[in-house]
Amino acid sequence: MSTYRIAWLPGDGIGADVMEAARIVLDALHLDADYVLGDIGWEFWCREGDPFPPRTVDLLKSVDAAMFGAITSKPVKAAEAELVPSLQGKGLVYRSPIVRMRQMFDLYTCLRPCKAYAGNPLNFREGIDLVVFRENTEDLYAGVEFNPVPKELSELLTALSAPFGAFKNVPNDQYAISCKINTKKGSERIVRAAFEFARTNKRKKVTVVHKANVVRATDGLFFEEAKKVAKDFPDIAMDDANVDAICMWLLKNPFNYEVLVAPNLYGDIISDLAAQMVGGLGFGCSGNIGTTVAVFEPSHGSAPKYAGQYKVNPIATILAAKMMLDWLGETAMARKVEDATAAVIREGSVRTYDMGGDATTLDMARAIAGKI
Ligand code: NAI
Ligand code: MG
Repeated sequence: MSTYRIAWLPGDGIGADVMEAARIVLDALHLDADYVLGDIGWEFWCREGDPFPPRTVDLLKSVDAAMFGAITSKPVKAAEAELVPSLQGKGLVYRSPIVRMRQMFDLYTCLRPCKAYAGNPLNFREGIDLVVFRENTEDLYAGVEFNPVPKELSELLTALSAPFGAFKNVPNDQYAISCKINTKKGSERIVRAAFEFARTNKRKKVTVVHKANVVRATDGLFFEEAKKVAKDFPDIAMDDANVDAICMWLLKNPFNYEVLVAPNLYGDIISDLAAQMVGGLGFGCSGNIGTTVAVFEPSHGSAPKYAGQYKVNPIATILAAKMMLDWLGETAMARKVEDATAAVIREGSVRTYDMGGDATTLDMARAIAGKI
Protein backbone atom coordinates (compact mmCIF):
# COMPACT_ATOMS: atom_id res chain seq x y z
CA MET A 1 0.00 0.00 0.00
CA SER A 2 1.18 3.48 -0.79
CA THR A 3 1.73 6.09 1.88
CA TYR A 4 -0.90 8.43 0.45
CA ARG A 5 -4.25 8.04 -1.23
CA ILE A 6 -5.09 11.05 -3.34
CA ALA A 7 -8.35 11.75 -5.14
CA TRP A 8 -7.63 12.88 -8.69
CA LEU A 9 -10.46 15.05 -10.04
CA PRO A 10 -9.67 16.64 -13.42
CA GLY A 11 -13.24 17.80 -14.06
CA ASP A 12 -14.07 19.77 -17.21
CA GLY A 13 -12.33 21.59 -20.04
CA ILE A 14 -8.73 22.59 -19.36
CA GLY A 15 -9.03 20.90 -15.96
CA ALA A 16 -7.88 17.72 -17.74
CA ASP A 17 -4.96 19.48 -19.49
CA VAL A 18 -3.51 21.07 -16.38
CA MET A 19 -3.99 17.98 -14.23
CA GLU A 20 -2.10 15.87 -16.76
CA ALA A 21 0.69 18.42 -16.46
CA ALA A 22 0.67 18.37 -12.65
CA ARG A 23 0.94 14.62 -12.72
CA ILE A 24 4.14 14.78 -14.79
CA VAL A 25 5.66 16.87 -12.01
CA LEU A 26 4.37 14.66 -9.18
CA ASP A 27 5.64 11.57 -10.97
CA ALA A 28 9.10 13.12 -11.23
CA LEU A 29 9.13 13.34 -7.42
CA HIS A 30 8.23 9.68 -7.00
CA LEU A 31 5.72 10.57 -4.31
CA ASP A 32 4.50 7.28 -2.86
CA ALA A 33 0.82 7.78 -3.65
CA ASP A 34 -2.18 6.15 -5.26
CA TYR A 35 -4.05 8.62 -7.42
CA VAL A 36 -7.71 7.61 -7.60
CA LEU A 37 -9.65 9.09 -10.49
CA GLY A 38 -13.01 10.57 -9.48
CA ASP A 39 -16.08 11.54 -11.53
CA ILE A 40 -16.94 15.21 -11.27
CA GLY A 41 -18.25 17.92 -13.55
CA TRP A 42 -20.57 18.82 -16.34
CA GLU A 43 -20.87 15.45 -18.09
CA PHE A 44 -22.15 13.89 -14.84
CA TRP A 45 -24.67 16.67 -14.43
CA CYS A 46 -25.98 16.16 -17.96
CA ARG A 47 -26.05 12.36 -17.78
CA GLU A 48 -26.89 11.72 -14.11
CA GLY A 49 -28.30 15.00 -12.86
CA ASP A 50 -25.46 15.35 -10.35
CA PRO A 51 -22.06 16.91 -11.12
CA PHE A 52 -20.68 15.60 -7.80
CA PRO A 53 -22.12 12.07 -7.59
CA PRO A 54 -22.30 10.16 -4.28
CA ARG A 55 -19.46 7.83 -5.36
CA THR A 56 -17.17 10.86 -5.62
CA VAL A 57 -18.31 12.10 -2.20
CA ASP A 58 -17.40 8.65 -0.84
CA LEU A 59 -14.03 8.80 -2.57
CA LEU A 60 -13.26 12.08 -0.83
CA LYS A 61 -14.11 10.48 2.51
CA SER A 62 -11.43 7.85 1.89
CA VAL A 63 -8.42 9.97 0.85
CA ASP A 64 -5.67 12.03 2.46
CA ALA A 65 -6.06 14.89 0.00
CA ALA A 66 -7.47 15.69 -3.43
CA MET A 67 -6.28 17.47 -6.54
CA PHE A 68 -9.03 19.15 -8.51
CA GLY A 69 -8.82 20.69 -12.00
CA ALA A 70 -11.83 22.82 -12.84
CA ILE A 71 -15.50 22.50 -13.52
CA THR A 72 -17.94 24.22 -15.81
CA SER A 73 -20.88 25.89 -14.10
CA LYS A 74 -23.89 27.45 -15.81
CA PRO A 75 -26.89 29.38 -14.50
CA VAL A 76 -29.83 27.28 -13.27
CA LYS A 77 -32.01 27.47 -16.42
CA ALA A 78 -29.15 26.95 -18.87
CA ALA A 79 -28.01 23.98 -16.80
CA GLU A 80 -31.43 22.37 -16.81
CA ALA A 81 -31.66 22.65 -20.59
CA GLU A 82 -28.58 20.44 -20.98
CA LEU A 83 -29.86 17.53 -18.90
CA VAL A 84 -30.64 14.33 -20.81
CA PRO A 85 -34.37 14.35 -21.71
CA SER A 86 -35.24 11.70 -19.10
CA LEU A 87 -33.99 13.99 -16.30
CA GLN A 88 -35.66 17.20 -17.49
CA GLY A 89 -38.59 18.70 -15.59
CA LYS A 90 -37.74 16.79 -12.39
CA GLY A 91 -36.77 19.87 -10.45
CA LEU A 92 -33.04 19.04 -10.45
CA VAL A 93 -31.04 22.15 -9.59
CA TYR A 94 -27.39 22.60 -10.54
CA ARG A 95 -25.12 23.53 -7.66
CA SER A 96 -21.39 23.94 -8.08
CA PRO A 97 -19.52 20.83 -6.85
CA ILE A 98 -16.70 22.89 -5.43
CA VAL A 99 -19.06 24.98 -3.30
CA ARG A 100 -20.81 21.80 -2.14
CA MET A 101 -17.51 20.12 -1.40
CA ARG A 102 -16.39 23.05 0.73
CA GLN A 103 -19.55 22.89 2.80
CA MET A 104 -19.91 19.12 2.96
CA PHE A 105 -16.31 18.53 4.12
CA ASP A 106 -16.12 21.74 6.10
CA LEU A 107 -13.13 22.95 4.08
CA TYR A 108 -13.26 26.23 5.91
CA THR A 109 -9.93 27.67 4.85
CA CYS A 110 -9.33 28.81 1.31
CA LEU A 111 -5.62 29.48 1.23
CA ARG A 112 -4.30 31.46 -1.71
CA PRO A 113 -0.61 32.29 -1.83
CA CYS A 114 0.26 35.02 -4.35
CA LYS A 115 3.97 35.18 -4.96
CA ALA A 116 5.71 37.02 -7.79
CA TYR A 117 8.33 34.58 -9.07
CA ALA A 118 11.35 36.51 -10.31
CA GLY A 119 11.41 37.03 -14.04
CA ASN A 120 7.73 36.35 -14.70
CA PRO A 121 6.89 38.94 -17.37
CA LEU A 122 3.35 39.11 -15.97
CA ASN A 123 4.38 40.32 -12.51
CA PHE A 124 2.79 43.60 -11.54
CA ARG A 125 5.86 44.26 -9.39
CA GLU A 126 8.79 42.02 -8.58
CA GLY A 127 8.91 40.84 -4.98
CA ILE A 128 5.21 40.64 -4.16
CA ASP A 129 4.56 37.86 -1.66
CA LEU A 130 1.06 37.84 -0.19
CA VAL A 131 -1.10 35.12 1.27
CA VAL A 132 -4.89 35.39 1.32
CA PHE A 133 -7.01 33.46 3.81
CA ARG A 134 -10.58 33.37 2.59
CA GLU A 135 -13.36 31.93 4.75
CA ASN A 136 -14.81 29.19 2.61
CA THR A 137 -18.13 27.93 3.96
CA GLU A 138 -20.40 30.78 4.99
CA ASP A 139 -21.04 34.49 4.36
CA LEU A 140 -22.84 35.30 1.08
CA TYR A 141 -22.01 31.78 -0.14
CA ALA A 142 -24.15 30.18 2.59
CA GLY A 143 -26.64 29.19 -0.12
CA VAL A 144 -29.65 30.68 1.70
CA GLU A 145 -31.31 32.55 -1.15
CA PHE A 146 -34.80 33.47 -2.26
CA ASN A 147 -36.01 34.38 -5.73
CA PRO A 148 -38.91 35.03 -5.67
CA VAL A 149 -39.12 35.97 -2.00
CA PRO A 150 -41.68 33.92 -0.03
CA LYS A 151 -44.50 36.03 1.39
CA GLU A 152 -43.82 34.86 4.97
CA LEU A 153 -40.26 36.12 4.71
CA SER A 154 -41.15 39.55 3.32
CA GLU A 155 -43.80 39.95 6.02
CA LEU A 156 -41.38 38.97 8.73
CA LEU A 157 -38.71 41.34 7.45
CA THR A 158 -41.21 44.18 7.24
CA ALA A 159 -42.27 43.50 10.83
CA LEU A 160 -38.72 43.17 12.18
CA SER A 161 -36.71 45.71 10.30
CA ALA A 162 -37.55 49.37 9.86
CA PRO A 163 -35.14 49.92 6.95
CA PHE A 164 -36.85 47.08 5.13
CA GLY A 165 -39.83 49.38 4.80
CA ALA A 166 -38.31 50.73 1.59
CA PHE A 167 -38.92 47.34 -0.05
CA LYS A 168 -42.35 46.84 1.53
CA ASN A 169 -44.42 47.60 -1.53
CA VAL A 170 -42.21 45.82 -4.03
CA PRO A 171 -44.04 42.69 -5.34
CA ASN A 172 -42.41 39.46 -4.15
CA ASP A 173 -41.39 38.36 -7.65
CA GLN A 174 -39.67 41.69 -8.26
CA TYR A 175 -36.78 41.22 -5.87
CA ALA A 176 -34.48 38.56 -4.52
CA ILE A 177 -32.68 37.94 -1.25
CA SER A 178 -29.29 36.28 -0.71
CA CYS A 179 -28.43 35.91 2.94
CA LYS A 180 -24.98 36.80 4.21
CA ILE A 181 -24.57 34.54 7.23
CA ASN A 182 -21.46 34.68 9.38
CA THR A 183 -20.93 32.74 12.58
CA LYS A 184 -18.61 33.48 15.47
CA LYS A 185 -17.09 30.02 15.11
CA GLY A 186 -16.57 30.41 11.35
CA SER A 187 -14.99 33.84 11.75
CA GLU A 188 -12.81 32.83 14.68
CA ARG A 189 -11.30 29.77 13.03
CA ILE A 190 -10.35 31.42 9.73
CA VAL A 191 -8.71 34.34 11.49
CA ARG A 192 -6.88 31.90 13.78
CA ALA A 193 -5.68 29.94 10.74
CA ALA A 194 -4.28 33.17 9.27
CA PHE A 195 -2.46 34.11 12.47
CA GLU A 196 -1.08 30.61 12.92
CA PHE A 197 0.21 30.68 9.36
CA ALA A 198 1.83 34.05 10.01
CA ARG A 199 3.57 32.71 13.11
CA THR A 200 4.78 29.52 11.42
CA ASN A 201 5.99 31.34 8.32
CA LYS A 202 7.62 34.27 10.10
CA ARG A 203 5.26 36.90 8.75
CA LYS A 204 4.87 39.97 10.90
CA LYS A 205 1.37 41.18 10.17
CA VAL A 206 -2.18 40.00 9.46
CA THR A 207 -4.63 42.37 7.78
CA VAL A 208 -8.33 41.78 8.43
CA VAL A 209 -10.53 42.77 5.48
CA HIS A 210 -14.17 43.71 6.08
CA LYS A 211 -16.77 46.42 5.59
CA ALA A 212 -17.89 46.64 9.19
CA ASN A 213 -18.77 50.32 9.04
CA VAL A 214 -21.63 49.57 6.59
CA VAL A 215 -22.37 45.86 6.85
CA ARG A 216 -22.56 46.15 10.60
CA ALA A 217 -24.09 42.89 11.77
CA THR A 218 -22.08 40.29 9.86
CA ASP A 219 -18.81 42.10 9.15
CA GLY A 220 -19.00 43.66 12.60
CA LEU A 221 -19.12 40.17 14.09
CA PHE A 222 -16.21 39.03 11.90
CA PHE A 223 -14.06 41.97 12.94
CA GLU A 224 -14.88 41.57 16.64
CA GLU A 225 -13.89 37.89 16.51
CA ALA A 226 -10.68 38.85 14.69
CA LYS A 227 -9.72 41.29 17.41
CA LYS A 228 -10.21 38.60 20.04
CA VAL A 229 -8.04 36.12 18.14
CA ALA A 230 -5.30 38.72 17.66
CA LYS A 231 -4.87 38.90 21.45
CA ASP A 232 -3.55 35.32 21.38
CA PHE A 233 -0.79 36.37 18.98
CA PRO A 234 1.05 39.27 20.61
CA ASP A 235 4.07 38.56 18.39
CA ILE A 236 2.10 39.36 15.23
CA ALA A 237 0.65 42.74 14.37
CA MET A 238 -2.95 43.09 13.24
CA ASP A 239 -4.38 45.84 11.13
CA ASP A 240 -7.64 46.06 9.19
CA ALA A 241 -9.00 47.61 6.03
CA ASN A 242 -12.31 48.03 4.24
CA VAL A 243 -12.63 45.72 1.25
CA ASP A 244 -12.93 48.58 -1.24
CA ALA A 245 -9.96 50.43 0.19
CA ILE A 246 -7.77 47.33 0.22
CA CYS A 247 -8.28 46.92 -3.54
CA MET A 248 -6.74 50.36 -3.94
CA TRP A 249 -3.99 49.93 -1.34
CA LEU A 250 -2.95 46.54 -2.68
CA LEU A 251 -2.23 48.10 -6.05
CA LYS A 252 -0.64 51.18 -4.56
CA ASN A 253 1.61 49.43 -2.11
CA PRO A 254 1.53 45.65 -2.26
CA PHE A 255 4.61 45.47 -0.02
CA ASN A 256 2.61 46.73 2.96
CA TYR A 257 0.74 43.43 3.16
CA GLU A 258 1.78 39.93 4.11
CA VAL A 259 -1.25 37.92 5.20
CA LEU A 260 -4.83 38.99 4.46
CA VAL A 261 -7.90 37.37 6.01
CA ALA A 262 -11.47 37.96 4.88
CA PRO A 263 -15.01 36.59 4.86
CA ASN A 264 -15.92 34.49 1.82
CA LEU A 265 -17.00 37.05 -0.81
CA TYR A 266 -14.38 39.68 -0.05
CA GLY A 267 -11.78 36.94 0.07
CA ASP A 268 -12.86 35.74 -3.36
CA ILE A 269 -12.50 39.21 -4.79
CA ILE A 270 -9.19 40.20 -3.24
CA SER A 271 -7.61 36.86 -4.06
CA ASP A 272 -8.35 37.37 -7.76
CA LEU A 273 -6.86 40.83 -7.53
CA ALA A 274 -3.79 39.51 -5.73
CA ALA A 275 -3.46 36.63 -8.22
CA GLN A 276 -3.48 39.08 -11.11
CA MET A 277 -0.60 40.99 -9.52
CA VAL A 278 1.59 37.89 -9.75
CA GLY A 279 0.70 36.65 -13.21
CA GLY A 280 -3.03 36.04 -13.37
CA LEU A 281 -5.05 32.89 -13.78
CA GLY A 282 -2.11 30.81 -14.95
CA PHE A 283 -0.46 31.34 -11.55
CA GLY A 284 -3.33 31.48 -9.03
CA CYS A 285 -3.44 28.35 -6.88
CA SER A 286 -5.55 27.54 -3.88
CA GLY A 287 -6.11 25.03 -1.15
CA ASN A 288 -9.52 24.28 0.35
CA ILE A 289 -8.49 23.02 3.74
CA GLY A 290 -10.49 21.38 6.51
CA THR A 291 -9.41 19.39 9.50
CA THR A 292 -9.51 15.93 7.91
CA VAL A 293 -9.15 16.46 4.18
CA ALA A 294 -8.01 19.19 1.81
CA VAL A 295 -8.65 19.85 -1.87
CA PHE A 296 -6.06 21.69 -3.95
CA GLU A 297 -6.86 23.43 -7.23
CA PRO A 298 -5.89 26.17 -9.62
CA SER A 299 -8.23 29.13 -9.10
CA HIS A 300 -9.12 29.37 -12.77
CA GLY A 301 -12.13 27.71 -14.37
CA SER A 302 -12.53 25.27 -17.24
CA ALA A 303 -11.83 27.81 -20.04
CA PRO A 304 -13.89 25.82 -22.58
CA LYS A 305 -12.37 27.57 -25.59
CA TYR A 306 -8.95 26.08 -24.78
CA ALA A 307 -10.15 22.64 -23.67
CA GLY A 308 -7.93 19.79 -24.82
CA GLN A 309 -5.57 22.11 -26.71
CA TYR A 310 -2.70 21.91 -24.21
CA LYS A 311 -2.29 25.62 -24.54
CA VAL A 312 -2.94 27.00 -21.05
CA ASN A 313 -0.42 27.49 -18.30
CA PRO A 314 -0.21 24.59 -15.82
CA ILE A 315 1.85 26.49 -13.22
CA ALA A 316 -1.24 27.29 -11.10
CA THR A 317 -2.01 23.58 -10.84
CA ILE A 318 1.62 22.61 -10.28
CA LEU A 319 1.80 25.14 -7.44
CA ALA A 320 -1.46 23.69 -6.10
CA ALA A 321 0.29 20.30 -6.05
CA LYS A 322 3.12 21.97 -4.15
CA MET A 323 0.59 23.21 -1.59
CA MET A 324 -0.77 19.67 -1.29
CA LEU A 325 2.71 18.34 -0.56
CA ASP A 326 3.14 20.95 2.17
CA TRP A 327 -0.19 19.98 3.66
CA LEU A 328 0.76 16.30 3.63
CA GLY A 329 3.95 17.22 5.49
CA GLU A 330 6.18 16.50 2.47
CA THR A 331 7.87 19.86 2.78
CA ALA A 332 11.12 18.84 1.10
CA MET A 333 9.24 17.70 -2.00
CA ALA A 334 7.13 20.83 -1.91
CA ARG A 335 10.29 22.91 -1.87
CA LYS A 336 11.63 20.98 -4.88
CA VAL A 337 8.51 21.73 -6.88
CA GLU A 338 8.62 25.40 -6.01
CA ASP A 339 12.34 25.74 -6.73
CA ALA A 340 11.98 23.96 -10.08
CA THR A 341 9.01 26.14 -11.05
CA ALA A 342 10.82 29.30 -10.01
CA ALA A 343 13.89 28.25 -12.03
CA VAL A 344 11.87 27.66 -15.21
CA ILE A 345 10.14 31.01 -14.80
CA ARG A 346 13.43 32.80 -14.15
CA GLU A 347 15.20 31.25 -17.13
CA GLY A 348 12.31 32.24 -19.38
CA SER A 349 12.94 29.89 -22.29
CA VAL A 350 9.77 27.87 -21.72
CA ARG A 351 6.69 30.10 -21.61
CA THR A 352 3.03 29.41 -22.33
CA TYR A 353 0.92 31.83 -24.38
CA ASP A 354 -0.18 33.92 -21.41
CA MET A 355 3.52 34.60 -20.67
CA GLY A 356 4.15 35.58 -24.26
CA GLY A 357 5.60 32.24 -25.39
CA ASP A 358 4.45 29.30 -27.44
CA ALA A 359 5.26 26.38 -25.14
CA THR A 360 2.45 23.90 -24.56
CA THR A 361 0.95 22.93 -21.22
CA LEU A 362 2.97 19.72 -21.23
CA ASP A 363 6.21 21.43 -22.38
CA MET A 364 5.98 23.56 -19.26
CA ALA A 365 5.33 20.54 -17.06
CA ARG A 366 8.26 18.64 -18.57
CA ALA A 367 10.57 21.61 -18.12
CA ILE A 368 9.65 21.79 -14.44
CA ALA A 369 9.88 18.02 -14.01
CA GLY A 370 13.30 18.17 -15.71
CA LYS A 371 14.59 20.54 -13.02
CA ILE A 372 13.39 18.11 -10.37
P1 NAI B 1 -11.83 30.69 -16.75
O1 NAI B 1 -10.94 30.83 -15.58
O2 NAI B 1 -12.21 29.32 -17.13
O3 NAI B 1 -11.12 31.33 -18.03
C1 NAI B 1 -11.11 32.70 -18.37
C2 NAI B 1 -9.94 33.00 -19.29
O4 NAI B 1 -8.77 33.07 -18.52
C3 NAI B 1 -9.66 31.92 -20.31
O5 NAI B 1 -10.43 32.06 -21.47
C4 NAI B 1 -8.21 32.14 -20.57
O6 NAI B 1 -8.05 33.21 -21.46
C5 NAI B 1 -7.68 32.53 -19.21
N1 NAI B 1 -7.14 31.39 -18.46
C6 NAI B 1 -7.77 30.61 -17.56
N2 NAI B 1 -6.94 29.67 -17.08
C7 NAI B 1 -5.76 29.88 -17.68
C8 NAI B 1 -4.49 29.23 -17.59
N3 NAI B 1 -4.27 28.17 -16.79
N4 NAI B 1 -3.48 29.69 -18.37
C9 NAI B 1 -3.66 30.73 -19.17
N5 NAI B 1 -4.84 31.39 -19.31
C10 NAI B 1 -5.87 30.97 -18.57
O7 NAI B 1 -13.12 31.58 -16.46
P2 NAI B 1 -14.49 31.69 -17.26
O8 NAI B 1 -14.24 31.68 -18.72
O9 NAI B 1 -15.19 32.82 -16.65
O10 NAI B 1 -15.31 30.38 -16.87
C11 NAI B 1 -15.33 29.19 -17.65
C12 NAI B 1 -16.08 28.13 -16.86
O11 NAI B 1 -15.34 27.78 -15.69
C13 NAI B 1 -17.45 28.59 -16.39
O12 NAI B 1 -18.36 27.54 -16.55
C14 NAI B 1 -17.22 28.89 -14.92
O13 NAI B 1 -18.39 28.73 -14.17
C15 NAI B 1 -16.19 27.88 -14.54
N6 NAI B 1 -15.33 28.23 -13.39
C16 NAI B 1 -14.95 27.21 -12.59
C17 NAI B 1 -14.10 27.44 -11.53
C18 NAI B 1 -13.63 26.26 -10.74
O14 NAI B 1 -13.70 25.15 -11.20
N7 NAI B 1 -13.10 26.44 -9.55
C19 NAI B 1 -13.61 28.77 -11.20
C20 NAI B 1 -14.03 29.77 -12.15
C21 NAI B 1 -14.87 29.50 -13.20
MG1 MG C 1 -13.15 33.29 -7.75
